[in-house]
Amino acid sequence: MRVIITDSYDQLGKQAAQLISDSINEKPKLVLGLATGSTPLGTYKSLIELHQKQQVSFKQVRTFNLDEYLGLGPDHPSSYHYYMYNNLFNQIDINPDNVRIPKGLSEDLDTECADYEKEIKGVGGIDLQILGIGVNGHIGFNEPQTPFGSRTRVVDLAQETIEANARFFDNRADVPRQAISMGIRSIMHARRIVLLANGASKAWAIERSLQGPVTEDVPASVLQLHPDVTVVLDREAAASLTL
Ligand code: F6R
Repeated sequence: MRVIITDSYDQLGKQAAQLISDSINEKPKLVLGLATGSTPLGTYKSLIELHQKQQVSFKQVRTFNLDEYLGLGPDHPSSYHYYMYNNLFNQIDINPDNVRIPKGLSEDLDTECADYEKEIKGVGGIDLQILGIGVNGHIGFNEPQTPFGSRTRVVDLAQETIEANARFFDNRADVPRQAISMGIRSIMHARRIVLLANGASKAWAIERSLQGPVTEDVPASVLQLHPDVTVVLDREAAASLTL
């Protein structure tokens, strides 16, 4: 596991964006796994800047998002679909046919989840997976106690995740209680993983995940078992690590 500690959130975004851009330039048909939430916003902003400077093109890139809230359609401003178009896709040259986000309004969720896995396999698997981390160590919406063998499926959100994500909704009561999430196993199949974290609220989860025991109590600790993980942190998120 490679750990990069940056001086600021801005630097974290720039470094992560450079890493993604380098991967695309090396393999223009890159299959990219994407996360939402606050953490990757700076990375997406920097990727847009790199694209504007013509240093990277997304024309042939395919993307798969980690998760989507159940019951929210693409036009709902708190859906991850909306987030991705608003914060990245509308400002780069990606082909919308190459974008895949779980369908939160699907009427046949079992088929949707099975299709998601098949589609990832169908394009040869994810080359580079971007991850954020929850305050409880979750990755995607794989909350503590999620079996490491889990695949894309419908999940219940932990209470702390509902609290943490309430800021993206008008009312806490509006936060969906369920989501579709890629599983731990689906994430671990990515060839390369880049985990991003910033801020003091993530220091506990980062220390447990990188230096604690590998346990389903802390889902991101499974990353210790992956052969190619890069962790990009700011100083606050790295504060509890023994270096
Ligand atoms: C989002 C996702 C989540 C977030 C995590 C951190 O697609 O899968 O695991 O990465 O909840 O969220 P933020 O970045 O908002 O602190």
